[in-house]
Amino acid sequence: MGHESDLSHARHIGSVAGWSRRAMLAGALALPGLALARSNKESGPLILDLGPSAPIPFGAAVRGETLLKDRDYREAVARTCAIITPEIELKWAYVEPVRGVLHFTDVDEVARFAVANGKRMHGHALLWHKSIPDWATDILAAKDWSAIRSFIASVMPRYGAVTDSWDVINEPIETGYRMDGLRPSPFLEAFGPEYIRRALEDARMFAPDARLLINEYGLEYDLPVERDRRYLFLRLIESLKKAGVPLDTIGLQSHLDLSRQDYFDQKLFAAFLKELTAMGVDLKITELDVKETAYALPVEERDSRVAAAVKAYLEVVQDFPVRSISCWGLTDRYSWLTVTPEDLAKEGNHWPAGQGPGVNRGLPLDASLRSKPFFDEIQLMVNKTETSFTGL
Ligand code: G3I
Repeated sequence: MGHESDLSHARHIGSVAGWSRRAMLAGALALPGLALARSNKESGPLILDLGPSAPIPFGAAVRGETLLKDRDYREAVARTCAIITPEIELKWAYVEPVRGVLHFTDVDEVARFAVANGKRMHGHALLWHKSIPDWATDILAAKDWSAIRSFIASVMPRYGAVTDSWDVINEPIETGYRMDGLRPSPFLEAFGPEYIRRALEDARMFAPDARLLINEYGLEYDLPVERDRRYLFLRLIESLKKAGVPLDTIGLQSHLDLSRQDYFDQKLFAAFLKELTAMGVDLKITELDVKETAYALPVEERDSRVAAAVKAYLEVVQDFPVRSISCWGLTDRYSWLTVTPEDLAKEGNHWPAGQGPGVNRGLPLDASLRSKPFFDEIQLMVNKTETSFTGL
């Protein structure tokens, strides 16, 4: 089968090579560096091309079904991304809706695209409280780890050759429940805080060469809840590192929010990253995007506000060992960030019935796949860090 042969080809590549060999392979398909690249159609989408061998690889979360159905989107991903993250298809509830019946078709599609286009995949996400299959609830409640291990054992080796890094634990922090800040979840209830160590150790066993992540959101702003989240997150990472738990990298989801942007304090955020990386972890920006506010402004102004938030954020993270920058989606055409009726109500409903401000413009490419100032900011960062960070 096509998928199988692509995946076994990837396994072969992965077994003999580090990133430079992969980059060479990818390079054969790459368009030139940072130049403006036009599609074949003169009137077609105009997008900026980073090329897959950028020193800090750029990436995006993608959906397999969208890759299949939308050729322009597929081209945009192929041109801009060095890493792709399956947005939904690798989550536990999606892969194993029935115990032992593994639904790999859709994540295979993403992996096949990665292999065919010289991309790497970022694995998202193994343990996430929002993606536990219904059937697993009772098993977890009985303190039985076997279902978790079997899921980890099913997916990590299968995609190992094309996947350099995995979100092993997703979103473990939630304030307001416990002194240690761990989020109440079936994992925590069954196994206590040890679930994090166990999952990371299992992950190391099934993907010895991959970078293992804890991926977290809500760490950016100088707001009381995020101050608490940063503190609790630091304590968690500190205790895991002290205990020698196999944790390599922190995934900063980086869902920026313009309604909070006044509370983004670069010095404060830099101090947090300094303390974090001093613990012996490096960073990946895993889900960068921007939730807008003030939708009634002209589009140019909206885009420039989005880009300014991205710029302020990247100015801080570029001083730290960042292994990749991925956005949660590439284009506003397929953004998980929607403009809700509540968003519009907050702004006094400027629009006549049936009309509105369109989509949230918080991703690098607009809905026509044209690059926006957001994307320019990403490129600037790639340039600036080119000589100082050797990356993968
Ligand atoms: O495709 C079906 C559609 O056919 C159906 O009509 C519709 C009805 O609900 O559902 C559609 O599927 C939804 C899918 O997104 C595609 O839009 C699922 O219900 C919905 O659960 C799924 O949500 C995803 C969510 O994770 C849960 O897996 C979002 O797309 C995805 O962006 C989001 O990603 C998370 C990260 O994993 C972790 N960090 C936050 C991030 C955003 O919430």
